[in-house]
Amino acid sequence: MKVFLVGFMGCGKSTKAKQLASRLGCEVVDLDAVIVAKQGKSIAEYFAEHGESAFRKLEQETLQSYAYPENCIVATGGGLPCFFDNMEWMNANGKTVYLKMTPPQLVSRLHNREKRPLLKGMDDEQLLAFIETKLTERNAFYNQAHLVVNAFDLDIEEVVSS
Ligand code: S3P
Repeated sequence: MKVFLVGFMGCGKSTKAKQLASRLGCEVVDLDAVIVAKQGKSIAEYFAEHGESAFRKLEQETLQSYAYPENCIVATGGGLPCFFDNMEWMNANGKTVYLKMTPPQLVSRLHNREKRPLLKGMDDEQLLAFIETKLTERNAFYNQAHLVVNAFDLDIEEVVSS
């Protein structure tokens, strides 16, 4: 069984993927980390050199061609479900979980903005406005997940038992 964790930047997909995998005794696949390892450069460097649309294509190829272990928890990039047919593909190939947080909760967690090309240089006020707009668009995709959980103060057992 593959479980795909989706949600906005800063909602804790990578951390929760590790916790869930250790709780369930299976492997973790972090798709951003797979891209970084394969390209030999950070996501920010990739964006700067090739632009966002090339990154979205690479994300789709990585998601849909990766040789996943049979049982694994997959952490996805925040934008991934919102491009091409990625959300349908994940829903058809595993169980999807949306780690939901409110815009102020996300702002309070997004300290390291420089490594995220879409957030570079933003102060708290700009970031809040950006998240409010983007989340409205992205929720249309995230809410297609099989399971939607309130990820702030999330008890991992809630996900395990669902
Ligand atoms: C992005 C989220 C990032 C990364 C890239 C774009 C987005 O992943 O894929 O910077 O569009 O929301 P995280 O959600 O792991 O930060």
